[in-house]
Amino acid sequence: MGSTVNKKIRSRIIGVGAALPKKIVTNKDLAQTIDTSDEWIVERTGIKERRIATTNELTSSLGVEASEIAIKNSGLKNSDIEMIVLATATPDNTFPATATAIQKGLGIKNGYAYDIQAVCSGFVFALESADNAIRLEKIKNALVIGSETFSRILDWKDRSTCVLFGDGAGAVVLQSDSSNTNSGILSNHLHSDGEYKDMLYVDGGPSTSSSVGFLKMDGSGVFKHAVKNLSSVVEEALKYNNLKIDDIDLFIPHQANSRILEAVARKVGMDRNKIIMTLDKHANTSAASIPLALYDAVENRKISKGDLILFLAMGGGFTWGSSLIRW
Ligand code: UT7
Repeated sequence: MGSTVNKKIRSRIIGVGAALPKKIVTNKDLAQTIDTSDEWIVERTGIKERRIATTNELTSSLGVEASEIAIKNSGLKNSDIEMIVLATATPDNTFPATATAIQKGLGIKNGYAYDIQAVCSGFVFALESADNAIRLEKIKNALVIGSETFSRILDWKDRSTCVLFGDGAGAVVLQSDSSNTNSGILSNHLHSDGEYKDMLYVDGGPSTSSSVGFLKMDGSGVFKHAVKNLSSVVEEALKYNNLKIDDIDLFIPHQANSRILEAVARKVGMDRNKIIMTLDKHANTSAASIPLALYDAVENRKISKGDLILFLAMGGGFTWGSSLIRW
């Protein structure tokens, strides 16, 4: 459902940060241990390499690193942050929320921190949550993070999944702004349908198993639903905001597969040049992929003040959604 809380207040992104593990694993590296090739992976997915966390690099530590950069870029102090929402499907531990470890890492004592789990759609779910708290005037400054270490839940012998994912984190600082109601986050639309929960899942976890488990996926099934659901949220956001596809300046989608994004672009008439793609270097980093791509766009000066930016995501559950932002 669309959300409208306080039309006089908008949440604005005032700082963006990112963090990647140091270790780069190329397709050629993977081809040394499993039956795959650089050609197959690039042609089928657009992925060329990914970052893989070492045992000392955790979802929390990557989250702290990305957050420190985002807070620094926002001009705020760590102590100004009143709410931390972390989107992750790969927490440090079953509990407590990894967001509290990030809160500790940032030395923040005030406010509250929690995790949100919507797998690859997690970042837009987390953004909606923080945006609602801001527009309800509960807080002024929030930190929204997507951080993942999917390498820990991959079966490195399963070539149909292990080549697709990577590790990393991205973060944004959101701030309450009542100076311009046509700027900041303009809409959020979230969806889920548990009917498809077995198409993309992890076969472990505390309630069902004695282990963390491995990621399992019906790749072509997910592919078809991803094209359909991502296309539908683009159309939903345009309709809700009374816009046309050409009004959008930049699309920042969850990065799962370049062929999915090309199919969505064809279906809804997106200009291919307006889509940020970081798949080639990050692979699919689940909830981290949108803020990582946003950071890349900011760093490469692809965003100007006033631009309309559409985040769109689809993930396990299935979950899917969008956020429209005027920069
Ligand atoms: O964030 C959301 C999560 N995930 C996604 O969005 C992923 C969605 N799905 C996909 O991206 C694609 O379905 C894949 C990239 C996973 C697979 O691409 P595909 O075009 O659907 O290939 P396929 O599964 O139909 O497999 C084609 C062939 C198979 O061989 P046979 O049965 O035709 O002989 C696979 O065994 O490719 C084979 N294959 C591989 N070959 C080399 C599967 N994985 C690999 C691999 N290297 N890594």
